[in-house]
Amino acid sequence: MFSARQIFAQVQRRGFAASARQSSKVTVLGAAGGIGQPLSLLLKLNPRVSQLALYDIRLAPGVAADIGHINTKSEVRGYDPTPTGLAEALKGSEIVLIPAGVPRKPGMTRDDLFNTNASIVRDLAKAAADHAPEANILIISNPVNSTVPITAEVFKSKGVYNPKRLFGVTTLDVVRASRFISQIKNTDPANENITVVGGHSGATIVPLLSQAGFNLEGEQLDQYVKRVQFGGDEVVQAKDGAGSATLSMAMAGARFAESLLKAAQGQKNVIEPTFVDSPLYKDQGVEYFASNVELGPNGVEKIHPVGKVTDYEQKLLDACLKDLSGNINKGIKFVKENP
Ligand code: NAI
Repeated sequence: MFSARQIFAQVQRRGFAASARQSSKVTVLGAAGGIGQPLSLLLKLNPRVSQLALYDIRLAPGVAADIGHINTKSEVRGYDPTPTGLAEALKGSEIVLIPAGVPRKPGMTRDDLFNTNASIVRDLAKAAADHAPEANILIISNPVNSTVPITAEVFKSKGVYNPKRLFGVTTLDVVRASRFISQIKNTDPANENITVVGGHSGATIVPLLSQAGFNLEGEQLDQYVKRVQFGGDEVVQAKDGAGSATLSMAMAGARFAESLLKAAQGQKNVIEPTFVDSPLYKDQGVEYFASNVELGPNGVEKIHPVGKVTDYEQKLLDACLKDLSGNINKGIKFVKENP
């Protein structure tokens, strides 16, 4: 039997092997929620993080007091929505993760969250543009296909938009795609890294299985693609009204933040899938697109093209692009009409 201390040390070593070389403040907005709490916990275990600022409209100081007892070096502070709370949480931050907002209930699509989450993200983006205009902004709140354009429009309106620093977090789609193929092929999921492109909802999620050398066919391929596209629904249904993916999402968000920190601290070839302001399909009117992106000290270093796809995957891409432009325009329109 391992002691709790040994298990904890192992989690730290395995998850975040490299040592910290630079101090980094990371802020979580929505830190007391289903995603926010485990995400904050994982960030506390990351030695690259020197300060952790936790903000929520409720309970953030409590979460900070709890996490702050963990024996890693970073300082943790919780902030309430006082007149200065949000500004202080954001000031000096290198990475701002935003999981604030409502999650889905059974039967809802991510787009059904738009009415509530659009204004939450818009308001938090305004604060980030004012108090952390140079930070990397990581949008987790759904619908990501719309909340990323909303954030971009807010930053543009304040004259501080840097497309290299705004990311929609789609890591969970790749985590799921890798896990699900390993279940079919009986491989180690840690060794799988399936490219997933497009957006982050239903038909806009396009796994490119062929690029990893897998050739599923017929119904098995259809079922695999559907499971990746609607994997989130499995969790929503299983939680039966109590929310959507939180723990796997926290892991995915922490992985993305860790990749950004590694890249900022000089590591090369750090590549993550993410939904960014992208040139790939601009000629088709799609301004934001998720593909593999090489990260660097300035955020986006290089956006990888989609690469070779099969006819089947091309059909998925065509359907994705159609939905995606509507989702993106909805976000842009929202900020224009509700500045
Ligand atoms: P939750 O309801 O458990 O937590 C949301 C937290 O946000 C709450 O603590 C709430 O107090 C806080 N909040 C609400 N308005 C706020 C504001 N104006 N400022 C600061 N905090 C505020 O929800 P959960 O499960 O954590 O999900 C959060 C979001 O993440 C949802 O929109 C969900 O759809 C999305 N999500 C995204 C995924 C992705 O892959 N990108 C995966 C799973 C969920």
